[in-house]
Amino acid sequence: MATSRELSSKLIRDYDDDEEVWLTHYSSNHQILLVGEGDFSFSCSLASRFRSASNICASSLDSYDDVVRKYSKARSNLATLKRLGASLLHGVDATKLHLHPHLNSRRFDRIIFNFPHAGFHGKETDSRLIQADGEIHVSHKDKAPFCHWNLEELASRCSLVLTQCVAFEKSEYPGYENKRGDGSRCDKPFPLGECTTFKFAVSRVAKEIYAEKVRWRETKERESKLLIRFSGVPLDIYNRERQSMLTRTSYPRRYTGESPERRPLLWQEPFFLRSSHQLYGWEGGRTMSTSTGFHHLHTEEGRLIRQRNLSIYHPYHCRR
Ligand SMILES: C[S@@+](CC[C@H](N)C(=O)[O-])C[C@H]1O[C@@H](n2cnc3c(N)ncnc32)[C@H](O)[C@@H]1O
Repeated sequence: MATSRELSSKLIRDYDDDEEVWLTHYSSNHQILLVGEGDFSFSCSLASRFRSASNICASSLDSYDDVVRKYSKARSNLATLKRLGASLLHGVDATKLHLHPHLNSRRFDRIIFNFPHAGFHGKETDSRLIQADGEIHVSHKDKAPFCHWNLEELASRCSLVLTQCVAFEKSEYPGYENKRGDGSRCDKPFPLGECTTFKFAVSRVAKEIYAEKVRWRETKERESKLLIRFSGVPLDIYNRERQSMLTRTSYPRRYTGESPERRPLLWQEPFFLRSSHQLYGWEGGRTMSTSTGFHHLHTEEGRLIRQRNLSIYHPYHCRR
């Protein structure tokens, strides 16, 4: 249910007859929570684009005093946000959002944590604060060691499932300055290089989806190894080997986690209803397609299936 703040922000918006404005994935109609802000320049960039910040709740782990001491532009960024109507919070620990008195009754369409690399281990955003169709966005560097964190697996332990990966481009957020956030050079930027925004949705069966994806990837890897081994080999030999490989891999013809108790859960799951068909090629929402893309390998359809799957299953390839 919408809180009074959300309602009043909507009313003001309706009254002003504001047009919806977008900045990349973010709309002036979204209720947005930002956690782990540095000098608040990212929040400011959104607010400047929206010409209002009444839909923005921007927060930092640091206290107000620490923020203005650490970052030279923090004071003016915070003043701008306040003038545009943002809620500003300090001392907000992203691992304990549900305990925060100003946050625990609110529901957001987007929760954003940019570059949480000062120690992101496990639950750093809370799925309880997100709308049913909301998203949690974590932007992160692609380079090692950051790409080894396996955000997807960490998130799955918090009932979050990866739905999309998109390239993060700092230039799309005018005024944003990424900050180290810690130590004597806390106000300095860190080299961004290639970065990705990982989008997560809430799913009660996130762990199962993740496990299924891992199995699926392994099968795909085995298939591509087989393809390489058999390139140029006559089709009948290839088919025989393919058949024996499929038998050995015991690829799940039906979704293995499906039990009579879980079936309704899968159906109710908003994420499943929205995207499992595209993700898994499921038929009727329950049965996993018997195709691994394998028998389409030499067709245009197969190429498209593989391309689509790559963009979903291999975050670091999706931009290419
Ligand atoms: C590398 S800095 C990035 C700062 C800012 N998001 C940006 O993009 O410039 C990492 C930030 O994560 C914050 N942080 C670390 N652990 C946190 C936690 N548990 N909850 C909230 N923020 C946290 C730090 O205070 C720091 O501001």
